[in-house]
Amino acid sequence: MAENDVIKQLNSLIQLDIDAVHAYDQGLSQIEEPQLKERITQFQQDHRRHITDLSQEVRKLGGTPEEYSQDFKGYLIEGFTALRSITGTDGALNAMEQNEVLTNKKYSDAVNWDVPSSTKAIIEKNAGDEEMHLQYIRQALKSR
Ligand SMILES: [Fe+2]
Ligand SMILES: [Fe+2]
Repeated sequence: MAENDVIKQLNSLIQLDIDAVHAYDQGLSQIEEPQLKERITQFQQDHRRHITDLSQEVRKLGGTPEEYSQDFKGYLIEGFTALRSITGTDGALNAMEQNEVLTNKKYSDAVNWDVPSSTKAIIEKNAGDEEMHLQYIRQALKSR
């Protein structure tokens, strides 16, 4: 893949993780159970780390990373489920599950990209986190 395309693709993953951080903010506001809240907060941290690591990779390749802004102006990725109008833990978990399905789909694509090995390593690590997020949320929904 040409360097410019790698930058473009990495920025699309950054957009995805930016959306995830915002969605998690909204989801967390609906979740009361301390144990669940703690775990979901850790997942949000994973997404923040994904943004940081991918951004560093974009800079290394000479590109400009997609910028994270604290205030939410709407989702960057089509298909991302808004959690603003959702109430309660179940509603939040269901919406988060949908978002993690989307995230996992994009990342499972991304692990097959023809990119430098250092970039691939980051994508694979992130993809592993995303898989774990989805499994946990599904398990949490099942045990309710
Ligand atoms: Fe992520
Ligand atoms: Fe995730």
